[in-house]
Amino acid sequence: MLKIGVLASGGGTNLQAILDKIESGYLHVEVATVVSNNENAYVLERARKSGVPAQCISKKNYPDLESYENALIQHFKDKGVQLIVQAGFLVILGSGFVKEFENRIMNIHPSLIPSFCGRGFYGLRVHEAVLARGVKVTGATVHFVDTGTDTGPIILQKSVEVYDGDTPEVLQKRVMAEAEWVILPKAIQLFAENKLIVEDNIVKWEVK
Ligand code: GRF
Repeated sequence: MLKIGVLASGGGTNLQAILDKIESGYLHVEVATVVSNNENAYVLERARKSGVPAQCISKKNYPDLESYENALIQHFKDKGVQLIVQAGFLVILGSGFVKEFENRIMNIHPSLIPSFCGRGFYGLRVHEAVLARGVKVTGATVHFVDTGTDTGPIILQKSVEVYDGDTPEVLQKRVMAEAEWVILPKAIQLFAENKLIVEDNIVKWEVK
């Protein structure tokens, strides 16, 4: 069974969606480890409650980004991780980490890339920008991570309607429930089935 490692900084509702889909039999993978950069992140407790090994590996304890990345690489290798899933991970990792796991790191972003993405677009800021621009449709994107910010090959996207009167918080919850928790497990299952082929920065779905 495919072993995945999850990197997360916050509440971990995307991790929960993955664990629920494993429990229901939709997703055939094992979460081998959950790592957070924040020791107080609720995602660590969520993981432990489900019997998944979880630990904090904090950037604060390393002199530079390179040594932090090396610690993460070693950890994932020790755990036999074949796919890394960034689910709300707020540290931007450099090319050393990305190249080590080329096309084996997925990220979930709460907008329809290439809109509302890149540096500075994270968390509620994304939904604030969506509302400020007045777009009527937003959504979420799962993509492979490359050395840019939100520039890697797109795997899945799902749209979500924006309604009059939405606040950033209300919109964030709708995007999570209608899009993120759906497409992240689906993308992982497609990877587990070896159906994602990357050619020239484009993901092609292999039809078997
Ligand atoms: C999600 O909105 C995700 O798209 C973004 O960070 C948030 C993480 O939420 N990158 P959670 O920790 O999975 O609840």
